[in-house]
Amino acid sequence: MRTKVAIIGAGPAGLFLAHLMARAGIDAVVLERRTRDYVEGRVRAGVLEQGTVALMEQLGLDARLKAEGLPHTGTNLAYDGEIFRIDMAALTGAAVTVYGQQEVMRDLFDAAGPRGVQIVFEAEDLRLDGLTGNSPSVAYRKDGVAHTLACDFVAACDGFHGVGRASIPDDVLKVYERVYPFGWLGILAEVPPVNHELIYANHARGFALASMRSPTRSRYYVQVGLDERIEDWSDERFWDEVETRLGPTASAGLVRGPSFEKSIAPLRSFVAEPMRHGRLFLAGDAAHIVPPTGAKGMNLAVSDVAMLAEALALFYADRDASGLDGYSARALARVWKAERFSWWFTGLTHRFPDMDAFARRMQVAELAYIRGSRAAQTVIAENYVGLPLR
Ligand code: APR
Ligand code: PHB
Repeated sequence: MRTKVAIIGAGPAGLFLAHLMARAGIDAVVLERRTRDYVEGRVRAGVLEQGTVALMEQLGLDARLKAEGLPHTGTNLAYDGEIFRIDMAALTGAAVTVYGQQEVMRDLFDAAGPRGVQIVFEAEDLRLDGLTGNSPSVAYRKDGVAHTLACDFVAACDGFHGVGRASIPDDVLKVYERVYPFGWLGILAEVPPVNHELIYANHARGFALASMRSPTRSRYYVQVGLDERIEDWSDERFWDEVETRLGPTASAGLVRGPSFEKSIAPLRSFVAEPMRHGRLFLAGDAAHIVPPTGAKGMNLAVSDVAMLAEALALFYADRDASGLDGYSARALARVWKAERFSWWFTGLTHRFPDMDAFARRMQVAELAYIRGSRAAQTVIAENYVGLPLR
């Protein structure tokens, strides 16, 4: 089998890229190790930057997003019993849309067949060959049968544990990493959200986030130690903790209910450079991870593949490789800024084990400063709604 672009992984990065290739008339095949149900079922964040919404519009994948997505023109910070709002629309002219990653995935998968987006599910034992030559290929097994997909380029959209980044020699790849000494315990519950917008709370006991999926479905998180076990977190304990950490004002009207999803995710910042090796291009979590504070993960995957698609289109239209040559530097410039924001926002809102009383006062002072400063709020707002692609 032969194609132009072999895309590894059918997460947000891989599927957006596949749709962009289909729209540009460039042959591509997606190879995914898991089933559609598995990929679609993973619960992730749910805040779409303007650029992500715009891409769904351009691809004509925005019908449900327009009907069910919740436009948010502001976001809220709570600390020490206080809560204040950052009016993103007033400060930047932009907003975000709350729409679960699971919904985005469903829209991308539903439209794949009708638009001729080719996806091979349960492609196992995948191996990349010839990446530094002119004719790379991807070997894999499907239902016990060996296949080889010859291609011009390989797009590794295969997440943090994929084969793409692992195929780049150690002496080429430089990795930057910060592992945080805590995780997020998250739940989904069929209850109305405590507030019509998100609330990020810094409490002496740790961070909490009140988010949502719809007017009747809420998503809450609390920061927990890495040694915490999910079995020790009854729904009641979880709700008590959320209520305490949000504080009396922000938690007023909190509606409790049984959780139907509960999981702990560790927090990490990670960047691998460069995002290209020969004819292999990395995009999304394959190249970088952000802590979820600020919900940049999926949005970064989208901005990567928007840039990669542009570069591939230029190559196939004019045999002009300048976009491909510039991809890594262009993508990384935006990635590092989102890494900085996610890292900073995590530092502002979480309790660190080595924090002393002074460090805690610094957090509270910074929050009080932000509360009173339009300039500081603008910095948060413009990062939160998403920096331009450039
Ligand atoms: N062969 C085939 N597929 C693979 C392989 C492999 N060897 N390794 C990984 N994959 C698939 C995974 O099964 C997964 O479906 O690649 C996909 C990667 O998807 P994500 O991990 O979602 O990564 P990405 O598309 O970059 O999305 C980034 O979305 O899922 C969130 O936390 C993520 O917010 C981040 C954003
Ligand atoms: C979520 O709703 O899952 C969510 C929202 C905002 C974040 C992270 C996660 O910063």
